[in-house]
Amino acid sequence: IQNDKDSQYIISNWAKDHYHKLLTETDEGQSIGLSYLRQRGLNQQTIKTFELGYSLDQWDDLLKSAEKAGFERKYLEKTGLAIERKDDQGKDTGRRYDRFRGRVMFPIHNISGRVIGFGARTLKANDKSAKYLNSPESDIYHKSDVLYGLYQARQAIRNEEVCYLVEGYLDVLSLHQGDIRNVVASSGTSLTESQIRLIGRYTDNVTVLYDGDAAGIRASLRGIDLILEGGLNVRVVLFPDGDDPDSYIRKVGDQRFKEYLENNSQDFISFKTNLVAKEAAHDPVKKAEAIRDVLQSIAKVPDPIKRQVFLQQTSGTFGIDEQVLITEYNKLVKNAS
Ligand code: CTP
Ligand code: MN
Ligand code: MN
Ligand code: MN
Ligand code: MN
Repeated sequence: IQNDKDSQYIISNWAKDHYHKLLTETDEGQSIGLSYLRQRGLNQQTIKTFELGYSLDQWDDLLKSAEKAGFERKYLEKTGLAIERKDDQGKDTGRRYDRFRGRVMFPIHNISGRVIGFGARTLKANDKSAKYLNSPESDIYHKSDVLYGLYQARQAIRNEEVCYLVEGYLDVLSLHQGDIRNVVASSGTSLTESQIRLIGRYTDNVTVLYDGDAAGIRASLRGIDLILEGGLNVRVVLFPDGDDPDSYIRKVGDQRFKEYLENNSQDFISFKTNLVAKEAAHDPVKKAEAIRDVLQSIAKVPDPIKRQVFLQQTSGTFGIDEQVLITEYNKLVKNAS
């Protein structure tokens, strides 16, 4: 088994180098892949740091090249780089084709820097298949245990004492290029407990920078509770609707982006309060719901002292007597258990 895993690491690393060469050294890679990345504002250094690549728009380039390089086909299958071609009855024909074709490749590294999988973006404006394709689960790739960019971010997270959490690959790349290096993405999954534990190895502080749309706000609310449950501190920055960190930093530039983060970072209580305030400023029913919602989040915090501080803050924010709030909180916790 160990041998088998090693072979999967080795072929993933080889595939990463292969895709990178295709991007930088072939006509198709340069005219399609590289020009796309350039148009997205990424420079040579970023492309190198994250080892980005390009997969040719062919059915079997990787399969053929791997064979030429002397790899056993089964490792391409085990890592999901090759897919079984099935017949009409769904039976394996024994033929294979490349999973990733005509896409920009984002290698996914583990914390020791080994490549364990790939994300891949289509370059077609109206692709019928998904905008992003990702490697399937394998012996070496468990997507719920991985954060994109953590390998490149870990030292900066320690130094800055905060980890910025974004949704996507391009968000990580654009911020890193803008000298904000303490940034990771949960890309392709909703945030998991084990991803939060992973961040917790480097810092206690997470700031959520999700996309400024309804889905991003929903994911932020869910992320907040999970991060609090994991015992970490959480803040949130909301972007204008329609923007994500990548589009926003491209729009306003590095300096103004950093100022935006500083001026718009909110703790979770203010974030929730402001969300409701927008909807129903003077509706007592909505306000009561909002308060209970904040109390639910506070209940997730493992540290009793922090809970106490949050309860005090909530009392102040909503102008509710602290004793009343604590009584309500205790009721809520009792009902939940
Ligand atoms: N994602 C995915 N599969 C999809 C769509 C999204 O795995 N079909 C993941 C990708 O990791 C993506 C992230 O979710 O980076 C965020 O999705 P989205 O905001 O739609 O994409 P962006 O990262 O903003 O990509 P782009 O700017 O290139 O559109
Ligand atoms: Mn796992
Ligand atoms: Mn989105
Ligand atoms: Mn985007
Ligand atoms: Mn996005």
